[in-house]
Amino acid sequence: MPESDLILMPHNQTPPQTPADLLSSAFALRSSICQSINGEILIPGDKSISHRALILGSLAIGTTRVSGLLKGADVMSTLSARQLGVDIDSVCGGRIHGVGLHGLTTPDAPLDLGNAGTGARLLMGVIAGQRITASFTGDSSLSARPMRRVTDPLEEMGAQVSYLPENNAKGLLPVTISGATPVLPADYHSTIASAQIKSAILLAGLNARGTTKVTEPHISRDHTEAMLRHFGLTVEQTILADGRHEVSVTGEGQLRAADIAVPRDPSSAAFAMVAALITPHSHITLPGISMNPQRIGLIATLQEMGGSLSLSNHRIEGGEDVADIEVRSSRLHGIDVPALRAASMIDEYPILSIAAACASGKTHMVGVSELRVKETDRIAVMAEGLRRCGVEIDETDDTMTVLGTNSGGDDISAHSAIAGGVIIASQHDHRIAMSFLTLGMVSKSPIIVEDVSTIATSFPGFAALMNHAGAKIERQS
Ligand code: S3P
Repeated sequence: MPESDLILMPHNQTPPQTPADLLSSAFALRSSICQSINGEILIPGDKSISHRALILGSLAIGTTRVSGLLKGADVMSTLSARQLGVDIDSVCGGRIHGVGLHGLTTPDAPLDLGNAGTGARLLMGVIAGQRITASFTGDSSLSARPMRRVTDPLEEMGAQVSYLPENNAKGLLPVTISGATPVLPADYHSTIASAQIKSAILLAGLNARGTTKVTEPHISRDHTEAMLRHFGLTVEQTILADGRHEVSVTGEGQLRAADIAVPRDPSSAAFAMVAALITPHSHITLPGISMNPQRIGLIATLQEMGGSLSLSNHRIEGGEDVADIEVRSSRLHGIDVPALRAASMIDEYPILSIAAACASGKTHMVGVSELRVKETDRIAVMAEGLRRCGVEIDETDDTMTVLGTNSGGDDISAHSAIAGGVIIASQHDHRIAMSFLTLGMVSKSPIIVEDVSTIATSFPGFAALMNHAGAKIERQS
């Protein structure tokens, strides 16, 4: 089967309504008002954990078997680890034959990370700790994202980093990194709660003589820490008295291959959750979603907004906490979303702003400046699209306030007051595309989203799965 089919076809079901090539090229989709969203929806594997499984599996001694790996385009970009001399079986990366902490080789071509910010930044950390050199490139969106936040600390650890002269000040791809020999242990105080920054430094530190420590203003997703432990290393994590999170790892250990079961992605589940909450007569179940506390801020937020979301069947699968989520249509109301929750739902603000637009009252989101440096400036792009749909929205550098369109009635069988009838440019941002397709499910007139191929980076089969549950997402001719 060609690689593109595995990336693009519905990931685990073959729903009848939608052609299998729904997301196969840069075309537009139209989402129209639907009756309800119902049934069980099997969300694909977690993107963050899938990247880490490929990367840490490559650095381990022995064969790592991965089940549930996300077959999204971003994770396929991280398969460029093969260019570093790692043997990864099958396009799905089901088996990784690790080469150990010193076994990578210099690639003979640049690593093209496509749209994958996590893959790029984590692999930069890996290269910084090796006696090899690699260049990194990416698509137009990744090439506009700041990389100095990662390469500056790696330079402090001894890596040599070079950007093109015209991109040097901003630190934009392409970049070439030569690993430090030996790499110095870091004691890095990050001003941003970012798992990508933290992970890159920890990965470089795996080859340092001594302990590498990273402190972040509050805890960001800790999948790297958990997986390093799963591979046999000791990783210390402390929440300091002032709320900062400190993590440390001692270098020159050894990663031992261990099987990994990737749980289903809460950031992808977010779209189905909001679709069911805002569409009347809906009731869905999402089995086996990761319950990592640093990933589920949206669930608490939607519950505070009056959403009927319940968790059951908590269990450990493959070393990860998972649970089933049940969601029913609900009348939502606006709330203040605390800044301290931002790191645990950073990828969910676009779809939260859709829920907020369908709620009554104001939803005020603070401490969200990081949204401005994601695949797009997500505050600006969501604000512009929502305004065009008739929603009032205010923004500052690090806040977004959405005035809900619901007048506050109790009738949960009424559709929203969203006008819709617009064409949204996804600007090559998967979460923008899925957010506006979700809004189309309750808008008076359909919403068309252009350039939806980007959805396959994180949620292959999104439209097919949602249509199977009752959505009306069709190819726009
Ligand atoms: C990720 C970390 C987050 C998140 C991204 C995935 C990860 O980025 O937005 O989608 O897997 O480490 P930051 O580290 O920039 O916050």
